[in-house]
This record gives sequence, structure tokens and C-alpha cells, in this order.
Amino acid sequence: MNTPTTHILGIVGSLRRNSYNRAALRAAVQLSPPGVTIEAFEVGDLPLFNQDQESKPPITVIDFKRKIRSADAILFVTPEYNHSIPGVLKNAIDWASRPGGDSAWSGKPAAIMGATPGNLGTVHAQSHLRQVLMSLDVKTMNQPEVLISNAAERFDDNGTLTHEATKRLIQLFMENLVRWTHLIAPPVSAAQPERELQLQ
Ligand code: FNR
Repeated sequence: MNTPTTHILGIVGSLRRNSYNRAALRAAVQLSPPGVTIEAFEVGDLPLFNQDQESKPPITVIDFKRKIRSADAILFVTPEYNHSIPGVLKNAIDWASRPGGDSAWSGKPAAIMGATPGNLGTVHAQSHLRQVLMSLDVKTMNQPEVLISNAAERFDDNGTLTHEATKRLIQLFMENLVRWTHLIAPPVSAAQPERELQLQ
């Protein structure tokens, strides 16, 4: 049987040039199983959310929602700012949730990773992000948790992940994300044959 392809939209909650979280997304690309493609979306391309514009949003927002809808899954890679998610990430989530009744998030499989130079691996930010995603009916994978602490020691100066245990964890995480995605939304080839559907 052919490996089903899984197209993932990667959303990094940092605009920083040498972001550890962007580096973590690059590591996920390298460590993904065959059949996975990851496209990165730049949240910095979005304007600040303004509810006056939600029924006629800017083209970048329309494009963002189209990318979310056409992705099989979303991979959020979030820094932690003051024990929560950065405003730029919340801004992106809010845009794609509007207008009411036209959220791009509903039912979408997703997973969360995060990196920090600190000791707690973005645990507070990830837990806040889960709460936000729950309100949007995003199907967020629970395990394994990828909490990358002490990032300055795990990535080299070029932003390459060098910490072997973290590499193995991200590899397992990406394998699980593919399984999770196909559990939530089975690929067309694995869906029930048309005849069975007609009999129901
Ligand atoms: C931080 N940082 C931080 N780190 C952390 O582990 N817990 C926290 O609550 C915070 N709070 C915080 C607030 C603000 C406003 C900034 C700018 C930073 C440090 C943060 O983890 C560090 O800057 C990372 O390098 C940010 O991620 P990127 O940009 O490297 O992906």
C-alpha cells in the first residue's frame, strides 16, 4: 500500500530572525517520516486583528485561512512570553477564527511544540494554547509533549538541533502526528468504499 501523504501547515509564534522555535520547526521537517510535507506560514505577514475588517479581511488573511483549510494538520511551534503564547500567534489564531460561523480551525488535527532557553520548556504557553484551541474545536494531539528547555544548549549557532534525545522525541512526535491526523480525518484511500456508504 502507498504511504498516504500528509500536508502540514507549520505556524511559528516568533518573528525573531534566530528563533529557536523556527529552528525547531526546521528540525521537525528533517525528522518527519516519508510522505510528510511541511509548509511554514509567517504570522508576521498578518496585520493586527481588527473586528471592523473581519467580514472583508485583507488578502493575507484569506490566504492564511485557505492554507489552514487545505492542510491535513497544523503544527504550532510556540515560544513562551510571560507564561503564555506570544501576541503574534494569538493574533493569527483570532483572524482565522472569524467571522463567526466561518472559522478555518474547526475539526482540524493539530499538535504543539515549543522551545525556550529557560528551564520549563514552554509548558505554560502550551497549556494556554491548548485551551484556546479547545474553544475552536481543534483536535490537538496530547502526547508526546515536546517541551524543549535549555534551547541554547540543544541548538548550535546555525540553529541546527544537535541534542540527540530531543531529535528522537521530535521524530516520535511527528510519527504520532501522522497517525493522529489520519485517525481524525482518514485519507480518502482509507475511507469506506462508496458501496458501503450507499447501504447505510
Ligand atoms: C520571554 N521569554 C520567556 N521564556 C520562558 O521560558 N518563559 C517566559 O515566561 C518567558 N517570557 C518572555 C517574555 C517576553 C516578552 C520575551 C521577549 C521573552 C524568553 C523566551 O523564551 C526567549 O526569548 C525565546 O528565545 C523566544 O523564542 P524564539 O524567538 O527563540 O523562538
